[in-house]
Amino acid sequence: MKCFSFFKEMKKKKKSLATEPGSAHVSMSTTRPTSTNVTGISESSGSSSTKQMSKSSVSVSSPRSIPAMYEERAQNLRVFGIRELRNATNDFSGLLKIGEGGFGSVYKGYIKPPGGEGDRIEVAIKKLNQNGLQGHKQWLAEVLFLGVVEHPNLVKLIGYCAVDGQRGNQRLLVYEFMRNKSLEDHLFNKSYPVLPWNSRLQIIMGVAEGLRYLHEGLEVQVIYRDFKASNILLDEDFKPKLSDFGLAREGPSDGRTHVTTAIVGTYGYAAPDYVQTGHLTIKSDVWSFGVVLFEVLTGRRSTERNRPRPEQRLLDWVKRFPIESRKFSTIIDPRLENQYSLSAARLVAKLATTCLSKSAKDRPSMSDVVESLKHAIQVSEAAGPTEPSEEQSASNSDDEEKAEQDGVSESAKRRMLHLAKLEASANAESRRKFTVMRKARQT
Ligand SMILES: Nc1ncnc2c1ncn2[C@@H]1O[C@H](COP(=O)(O)OP(=O)(O)OP(=O)(O)O)[C@@H](O)[C@H]1O
Ligand SMILES: [Mg+2]
Repeated sequence: MKCFSFFKEMKKKKKSLATEPGSAHVSMSTTRPTSTNVTGISESSGSSSTKQMSKSSVSVSSPRSIPAMYEERAQNLRVFGIRELRNATNDFSGLLKIGEGGFGSVYKGYIKPPGGEGDRIEVAIKKLNQNGLQGHKQWLAEVLFLGVVEHPNLVKLIGYCAVDGQRGNQRLLVYEFMRNKSLEDHLFNKSYPVLPWNSRLQIIMGVAEGLRYLHEGLEVQVIYRDFKASNILLDEDFKPKLSDFGLAREGPSDGRTHVTTAIVGTYGYAAPDYVQTGHLTIKSDVWSFGVVLFEVLTGRRSTERNRPRPEQRLLDWVKRFPIESRKFSTIIDPRLENQYSLSAARLVAKLATTCLSKSAKDRPSMSDVVESLKHAIQVSEAAGPTEPSEEQSASNSDDEEKAEQDGVSESAKRRMLHLAKLEASANAESRRKFTVMRKARQT
């Protein structure tokens, strides 16, 4: 397989990691071809030339790759032994398990502070599934990217552990602990208190800043590639941080427009142009950002199979309620109980719509997004929470009329709602498994 042979090539070039139990170090050479592939996934930037670049030749005009930056910046990452992490999690006790994603399980744990003195530190430990190369690639990408990036809206990686043993290979990551779970939990899990309007705006502003930093704030562009509500974690003050860099990629260099890569991501969030062509750009993230904006406005997931057919795909459904129409407020999360600014909501919906432009080049940059959100927040603060009752009831009845036309009676809707509740957890699990993974044609 192409991915695998490329990965072996990487090893030959000493972009390698030592994996002795308890003493593993990630070590990347600072020499790289132009189309850097830090994680072993086949990709190209449409160029066959391989320009070699050493640390000493680095200048402002020749940006360094993530591995080169890693060599310089990642000294502070701690290398944990497996025994230490077993102790930290009571041998990965089910009682300390706080989450499970497509790539592994997450446990709460306690580790000693760096010097060994003082109170133990609360951490989240992700134990990647033992699925060979793929798991290793996710792990390596997280170590490299999170070892380099530094921003208040990106989760901090404290350290890692890699053990290759007779009973399989173990790959683990140790992060700062995020006390308030994910945006997904707060938006969609009805057992959580309603996330207030202002908090929603602050959260999307925070993650927009995080994405802007990845796209525009480093020597190289970083494409995050898995932007979705479950990857937005919230700290004790509800400050958002992006987690999960397992799918992150360096953007194109040398004036190229895109990188071509295997198509991975999450169904419902991935940009259609990327899914169709495998051409990845920072604008793929902007599309996903637009999807999350509509999730935040509506309190609905990008795909909900337990709703009546016309409502299953969020992006199709919201189109039925044009932003400037009286019906628009129908899409706003009913759990907000009208405690939001309608004008600001319209601005956010407009922004979401431009992020979801069919053509990637029509989507805004994340700097533009941040500016638009600043404006929306100002408008929201100036307006205070409004009660769009007149509009709300007008649009609600319009919507009900439409639902009747679609053949969905009120009682059927109620049954659907009940079913939706029952199926919510089952759905979350199956959606996770719905990661798109198609091999793209290489250019
Ligand atoms: N640093 C952290 N602090 C606290 N909880 C965390 C942390 N990282 C992850 N979690 C918890 O673990 C859950 C699972 O995370 P994970 O990233 O493995 O899966 P996911 O985001 O739900 O799905 P996917 O695998 O598709 O990304 C998160 O939703 C969150 O509740
Ligand atoms: Mg995740």
